Amino acid sequence: MSDAFFYQQLRKQAARKAARFHMPGHKGRPVLPGLHHLAEIDYTEIEGTGNLYAGDEPIVSAERAAAHWYGAADCLFLTGGSTQALMTAIAAAVPVGGTLIVDRNCHTSVTHAMALLDLTPEFVVPHPLDETGLPGLIHLQEVEAALARAPHAAALLVTSPNYYGVMQDIPALAQLCHRHHIPLVVDAAHGAHLPAVGVPSPIQQGADLAAVSAHKTLPAFGQSAILLSSGRVPFDTLLETAPMFGTSSPSYVLLASIDLARAWMEGDGAAAYAQCAQRVASLRREINQSTVFSALTEENGPLDPCRLTIGCRGTNVTGHKLNEILHAEFGVDVEMSDRDHIVCICTGADTARDYARLMGALRDRRFYRVAYPSIPLLPFPTPQRVCSVRQAWFSARRTVPLAQAAGQICARALTPYPPGVPLIYPGERIGQVHIEFLLAGWYTDTAPICVMDPTANREGKAIC
Ligand SMILES: Cc1ncc(COP(=O)(O)O)c(C=O)c1O
Repeated sequence: MSDAFFYQQLRKQAARKAARFHMPGHKGRPVLPGLHHLAEIDYTEIEGTGNLYAGDEPIVSAERAAAHWYGAADCLFLTGGSTQALMTAIAAAVPVGGTLIVDRNCHTSVTHAMALLDLTPEFVVPHPLDETGLPGLIHLQEVEAALARAPHAAALLVTSPNYYGVMQDIPALAQLCHRHHIPLVVDAAHGAHLPAVGVPSPIQQGADLAAVSAHKTLPAFGQSAILLSSGRVPFDTLLETAPMFGTSSPSYVLLASIDLARAWMEGDGAAAYAQCAQRVASLRREINQSTVFSALTEENGPLDPCRLTIGCRGTNVTGHKLNEILHAEFGVDVEMSDRDHIVCICTGADTARDYARLMGALRDRRFYRVAYPSIPLLPFPTPQRVCSVRQAWFSARRTVPLAQAAGQICARALTPYPPGVPLIYPGERIGQVHIEFLLAGWYTDTAPICVMDPTANREGKAIC
């Protein structure tokens, strides 16, 4: 751990035992006993620690080391998660009021960027991988078609890997974008660890900007993220844009955790992640051979080697039920569930015992195959856009029960969380067909749905 510059500088700074007349209020003292080690390096922008958004040392050296690890020209550490990284990337790549070609499987933070920046989305819909509707690959000809529909689009944004671990063909998408002189932005929130398992970062594959959540798959703390850049968008633009979407007091503990995670990945972490990928490969085989469940494998599509997506369709439990049983009876907590899957995030921090516990649970005799699997989930029908995301977002609005929402215009994204992927975007009309889908997979008929209220006087409305 000899070259975590930024972390080491914070430790040196703390070792000075200076009188700390600056924030945070704990002053590096063990006021909260359980957190005293963290308190020591929990600094702010003072002499010696640098200012994140000014590109100061020692932060920028830590960023350069991380950029090197990802094969990027530059990178920016962030403390507002990939949410902040994506908003920064979008604001840097697309002018206000511009058009963004974007996969419909994008995270809800992308919708927030659309509302704030008044962007028009031109959606491309990933093809389902199987009958469970799991979002799969984006076809190049559909991106071409979107570019033809929206020739003034300023950028393409795709999610890769997605929550289920499915990875897009980034080199081909990057080539296509560059032929059309637009940047490719990749939401790689789930892919911060990929270089450790031999998968080049999105930037190494030709993307221009990529958001990675260091807290999701690296051992960094919650909210820590990195915005990677190929250099096509100037670093200064990123520096001046990022603070619009984050606190002016970014946590030094989080920043140091990114620095430490990168240093660890260059050392012992590399072997830990290689072992994780091997274990996941053998778990997938074991699950498919010796349990009633089915693991997603490379045969289904290109996958993150560390993501374990386990299908339940054709068994006596839904993904949600399996999640509940694993938690309550086996002491196994998974990242998320949907009707037909559970998703396990696996990293270099998992142990053989953790995996054995998961396998033991999956082999339990209470789980069995059934003759009639759940009905296939067809792709969610794309709703019709009636007005801009921004108009819908900031309009007067009211809530109606889902059963009465047909014909209404959505004012807030309808986003089952996780995976946090909107099914209906603000400004789109909710049809009866959408209500039936939502009832089948996610919501009850009384679920409150936020819709535009065209008759209301905006001033007089309560916020819903
Ligand atoms: C695909 C995807 N992108 C972006 C985000 C936002 O990341 P963060 O939680 O780091 O802000 C998430 C969060 O779950 C996500 O799943």
